[in-house]
Amino acid sequence: MDIFDKIDNYFGPLGQYMEQSHGYYTFPKLEGEISNRMIFNGKERLVWSLNNYLGLANHPEVRKADAEAAAKWGLAYPMGARMMSGQTKYHEQLEQELADFVGKESGYLLNYGYQGMVSIINSLVDRRDVIVYDSEAHACIIDGMRMHFGKRLVYPHNNINNLERELERATKLINKTGGGILVITEGVYGMAGDLGKLKEISELKKKYNFRLLVDDAHGFGTMGKTGAGTGEHLGVQDEIDIYFGTFAKAMAGIGAFVAGNKKMINFLMYNMRSQIYAKSLPMPMVIGAFKRLELLKTKPELKEKLWTIVNALQSGLKEKGFNLGNTESPVTPVFFKGGLPEATNVTKELRENFNVFCSIIIYPVVPKGVIMLRLIPTSVHTLDDVEYTISAFSEIKKNLDAGKYSTVELAEMTLK
Ligand SMILES: Cc1ncc(COP(=O)(O)O)c(C=O)c1O
Repeated sequence: MDIFDKIDNYFGPLGQYMEQSHGYYTFPKLEGEISNRMIFNGKERLVWSLNNYLGLANHPEVRKADAEAAAKWGLAYPMGARMMSGQTKYHEQLEQELADFVGKESGYLLNYGYQGMVSIINSLVDRRDVIVYDSEAHACIIDGMRMHFGKRLVYPHNNINNLERELERATKLINKTGGGILVITEGVYGMAGDLGKLKEISELKKKYNFRLLVDDAHGFGTMGKTGAGTGEHLGVQDEIDIYFGTFAKAMAGIGAFVAGNKKMINFLMYNMRSQIYAKSLPMPMVIGAFKRLELLKTKPELKEKLWTIVNALQSGLKEKGFNLGNTESPVTPVFFKGGLPEATNVTKELRENFNVFCSIIIYPVVPKGVIMLRLIPTSVHTLDDVEYTISAFSEIKKNLDAGKYSTVELAEMTLK
């Protein structure tokens, strides 16, 4: 059989709807300056889909720093991987600043969070080791673990009793193999906005011998008194042995970093295949990240504004009877009951009739029969945006409850 033959039959869990969804529900084009209002399908919409938490994407100082760095360095420098010919004092300096900010001894830059996480996991564990991880772990954690030759034990999302049971099992296993245990959780779960139970997990360190890796992609810059993340927010930053943050969200850039004790970071520098065998992060990304970090540290008003919007949006939606799950972060999921027709109709109605653009998440990311609309508040939203959105959602809910969205065919709904 030609390996392409199977494509005729099945395009994958998300790709199977491509014909009806491409360009609208999937791969939509948001145009114009990154802001609370952008152009979609030829019209201005109120956008709640960007992880531009602190509004840094289009901050004038950020734009200036990015442009100046690109003019000064170009996008090529430094050429080569860090280990061979891609090292600069700026990369090193940024790593130290990031590490200091999150209260760790050392840091190391990653070209992309996703690849970085895969490689962190891959380089830290060998076949004797056991990974214990949360069932709702991000794809980058899952893919990192797929490369692991040893045992992987999963616990149901945030279920500490089950985690403890798995730790008991893991301990028995490593007593035989002579390996160690790595526990992996997220700080903020990016889909539903609830927090990893870092406090309870850290408590278990008193009883079990393990190292803790926290993916704080959504927590870095948004959570904690200084923005140093979910560990800071929950008072257990010191218990995180391997802290991971990305520039793709609150930092509104690209790249990521890992931080921890110097020996572990040095080990990663010499063993992470994603960094050893890939070109170094280009200079504008590094210089741009300095500026973003500076603003994150020196302009607490950005985070305060973010949380004003978060609190207004979440309390307003809850008052109207919406189910927001267990979010404790800026990530604002709104759960409805319904299938694919309801999901597409609700999204389309919001976009076309209310000019509100938010992301839609369906099975298999959420259980069958559940629709999740996900809103990401940012510091560039206004309280008027919040009020308008809550009233739009209320209208939608009335129609949904009246069964208005359950009949129309997906194909009919699709705009190209
Ligand atoms: C929880 C989590 N981890 C890792 C990543 C990957 O980060 P990056 O976009 O830098 O590759 C993301 C981003 O989608 C994320 O949400």
